[in-house]
Amino acid sequence: MTPEEIRSRYLEFFKKRGHTIVPSASLVPQNDPTTLFTGSGMQPMIPYLLGKDHPEGTRIADSQKAFRSGDIEEVGDNRHTTFFEMLGNWSLGDYFKKEQLAWCFEFLTDPKEGIGLNPQNLYVTTFIGDEKNDLPRDTESEALWKDLFAGKGITAKSVLIGSEADGYARGMKEGERIFFYDSKKNWWSRAGVPEKMPVGEPGGPDSEVFYDFKTPHDKRFGEHCHPNCDCGRFLEICNSVFMQYLKQPDGSFGLLPKQNVDYGGGLERMVMAQTNSPDIIVVNHRPILDYLEKASGKIYGADEVDTRSFRIVADHMKAAVFLIADGVVPSNADQGYFVRRLIRRAVRHADKLGIANAGFAEIVGPVATMYAAAYPEVRAKADEIRKIIATEEEKFRKTLATGLREFEKHAKSGVVDAFLLFSSYGFPLELTLELAAEKGLRVDETKYKSEMEQHRQESRAGSEQKFKGGLADSHEKTIRLHTAHHLLLRALQIVLGE
Ligand code: SER
Repeated sequence: MTPEEIRSRYLEFFKKRGHTIVPSASLVPQNDPTTLFTGSGMQPMIPYLLGKDHPEGTRIADSQKAFRSGDIEEVGDNRHTTFFEMLGNWSLGDYFKKEQLAWCFEFLTDPKEGIGLNPQNLYVTTFIGDEKNDLPRDTESEALWKDLFAGKGITAKSVLIGSEADGYARGMKEGERIFFYDSKKNWWSRAGVPEKMPVGEPGGPDSEVFYDFKTPHDKRFGEHCHPNCDCGRFLEICNSVFMQYLKQPDGSFGLLPKQNVDYGGGLERMVMAQTNSPDIIVVNHRPILDYLEKASGKIYGADEVDTRSFRIVADHMKAAVFLIADGVVPSNADQGYFVRRLIRRAVRHADKLGIANAGFAEIVGPVATMYAAAYPEVRAKADEIRKIIATEEEKFRKTLATGLREFEKHAKSGVVDAFLLFSSYGFPLELTLELAAEKGLRVDETKYKSEMEQHRQESRAGSEQKFKGGLADSHEKTIRLHTAHHLLLRALQIVLGE
C-alpha cells in the first residue's frame, strides 16, 4: 500500500466509527509560544484534552503534519525523517481503553478496512506502574491485549521488563508478546516522564505496538533484543496514550476532568510495516528519489555514501517544502533558521550527488505531486515555494565560496569559529562540523551555542522594543510590511467595524 492508501483507509475507518475528520493543523503552532513546531498530532488538541469542548464533538481523527527539528542530524539512516504524518484519533471523555485497543488492533490487522498486518509480527508494550508517583500498573491493557491476540489464535504471554537496560539484559522468550516497561518508555506527556511534567500538564500511561521485521539482532545496541531495542528489528508503529492525569501543584497526579485517548500512528512507519520494508525513505519518498536519480544519473541504494545523501536531500526537501507552505521563510532565527538549515544541508548533499546544475529547486515538483490530494495547498503554492528555495540556494552558493575560503583560514590556524562562519557566511553549524570533521578538527560547540543564544536574544529584544507582539526579525522590509498590515487592518475596521 502507498502512503495515500493507508491515510485514506485510516480516516475512513475512524469516520465509520463515529469520528469527525479534521484537517491537519499548521506545522507552526498557533497560540503556543512554548514550541517552534508541531511535532506530534496531539499538540493542537491540548486545550480539548484539558477539558475544553471541541466544536466537532468527542470523537476526532486526523492526519497531522509533524516536524521534529531534533532529528535533523539523525536523518541519513534507514528510519529517521524530520517530517512525518501522524495518524491520530482522540476520545475526549468518550471511549477508553477497551474500544481504543480493539480498534487499533483491528486497523492494523484487518486486510479489508485496515492494513492487514500479520498479527504474528506484532508485539505490544504497556506501563509497568510507578510506585513513587502512585501510578498503577496498566493491567487493564494487558488483559485487553491478551483477548485481542487470542481472537487471532495467538496466546500472548506478558512479562515485566522495567527499564530499557533491563530489556537488553533479559531479552525476550518464546511466546512473550506483551511487555511492561517503565515510565521512560510507556508514559506520555509533552514533557516526558512524570517527574519532568510541569504543574498543569496532562499525561498518562500508554501502550505501543511494534512491528517485527525479523532482521537479525545487532549486539552493538545491547546483549539481547527486545521490542524497545534500537537495532532495527522492531519498529514502533503506533501509540495509544490514555490521557487521564494532570500534574498537581503539590507534585502528585490528579485525574483530568475527562478520561481521554490520544492515539498517534506514524503513517510513514505503517507504510514500512505494510510493505515489510525497513527503509523509510524508499517507500515514502519514491517520487523524490526518482527525480534525484534522473538528475544525478545515480541509483538509490547502489552506494552507501550516496544513499545517505539521497536520504538527506529527500527528507530535508520534503520538510522544507511543507514548512514554507505553512508560511515559514528561511532566516537566521526561530523557525526560519531550521528551513535555512534544511535547504543548505540539502544543497550540499545534492552537490555530492552531482545534481548541482540540474535544478535543485525543481524538487518541489515531485513533493507537490505526491501530496496533491491530501495537501493541495502545496501544489497551489509550488511556484512560490520554488522561488523561495531557489533564492535561498543562490544566497548560499554566493556565500559558500567565500565562506569556504574563510573556513580554510580558520582550519590553518587550528581554531574554527562556528558562530562567525554562521553569522557572516550563513554556514549552519552542521556544515562547519562536517567540514571540520573532514580535516580532523574540533569545533567548540558550547561556545557556538552560547553565542547563538545571545544572538537570538538580541534579535528578539530588538523587535520587541519596536513592536509589543514581536516580529520574526527587525529587517526594514519586515517592519514596513508590519506597519502596512496595521494600516490595512485599521482601514478595514473603519469600513467594516471592529
Ligand atoms: N501523543 C502521542 C505521540 O505523540 C500519541 O499521539 O506519540
